[in-house]
Amino acid sequence: MKNREVIQLTDKYVAQTYARFPVALVRGKGARVWDADGKEYIDFLAGIAVNGLGHNHPAVVRAIREQAGKLIHVSNLYHIPPQAELARELCRRSFADRVFFCNSGAEANEAAIKLARRHGLEKLGGRYEILSVHNSFHGRTLATLTATGQEKVRAGYDPLPAGFRQVPYNDLQAMEDAIDPNKTVGILVEPIQGEGGVVVPDEGYVRGLRELCNRRRLLLIFDEVQVGMGRTGKLFAYEHFGVEPDIMTLAKALGGGLPVGAMLAKEEVARSFVPGTHASTFGGNPLACTVGLAVLKALLQGGVLKNCVKMGKLFFKGLESLKSRFSFIREVRGKGLILGLELDQEGSKIVETCLEAGLLINCTAHRVLRFLPPLTLSKKDIEQGLAILEKVLARH
Ligand SMILES: Cc1ncc(COP(=O)(O)O)c(C=O)c1O
Repeated sequence: MKNREVIQLTDKYVAQTYARFPVALVRGKGARVWDADGKEYIDFLAGIAVNGLGHNHPAVVRAIREQAGKLIHVSNLYHIPPQAELARELCRRSFADRVFFCNSGAEANEAAIKLARRHGLEKLGGRYEILSVHNSFHGRTLATLTATGQEKVRAGYDPLPAGFRQVPYNDLQAMEDAIDPNKTVGILVEPIQGEGGVVVPDEGYVRGLRELCNRRRLLLIFDEVQVGMGRTGKLFAYEHFGVEPDIMTLAKALGGGLPVGAMLAKEEVARSFVPGTHASTFGGNPLACTVGLAVLKALLQGGVLKNCVKMGKLFFKGLESLKSRFSFIREVRGKGLILGLELDQEGSKIVETCLEAGLLINCTAHRVLRFLPPLTLSKKDIEQGLAILEKVLARH
């Protein structure tokens, strides 16, 4: 099938929840993808932070092939060796003591919200309310869209579940003022906002949240669905801030392209989940967790995190140089390889022109061009990609 046929089929048979670009991607390698008509693109989006190791990384492909030939799925009614191993590896490398596996970021956040509520019921006098922040994004299930601080994501789904409120991001006082001592059980935040426009909070904000949670006996929940698994140059973004959460959620890059999500928690909190309180049929299945293990190993042993830091700096410099050339660029932001270019105008047209010119990027929060390339990116990929972007900006 060529691009045109795929587009026709999609338009006729697929639920129209996405505004898609008019290309069908069929093949990938590293930071490159090809469409059904054979055109090549530099991929600065990596499936929106999913393909951290790039497309068709040999370790991921090998893990899938080998495990698929052995055992793809069994129920969580039985013990699953790669699930137990992946849980151990994630706990060894993080603040956490236990992991619940699921299949997406929204599900991981659902698990976090449910765990916080049970913990509130058992240990905190029945408190249940989750505070989150404006412009956050936590998913599309009813609970997670209610926690999401964007009106457009919630619109049309009333009545929404009770027990969620949002305050401005990066504002410790607003958070403290919002706490209801009889209701609030925890604070859910992305340590660095992704969908909200690649926003890195002020020095001290994340640490301040930890102190606030300690002082007011609240759970601190980090949504690292987008920024976890190496994206910022550290395995988990919270490591930049010198604090630990009580609960953290992961998905996206964890499965190297397979749908894998996880909710990690400290023992004292995790204890509130007992048999029968939460579950997922596919969560933590042998294939998913074998791939998760391969991804983690490649990230930690293959020099990928180091590459992310190095290439992140180079990429940032390249964006800064574009900023000095084009007056409509307001700011360059980000950490590691989650980077954003804030414009003084809508960015969607630029994204479309980049696609035509062979570069995949996206625009979030209307005016922020967002770059989430594979962490295995090379200097050449950056140079070629930014050269395309520069040409597009020059014509803009
Ligand atoms: C920070 C964050 N949380 C949650 C989600 C939802 O993840 P999923 O689409 O896998 O449900 C996303 C997706 O973009 C995200 O960026």
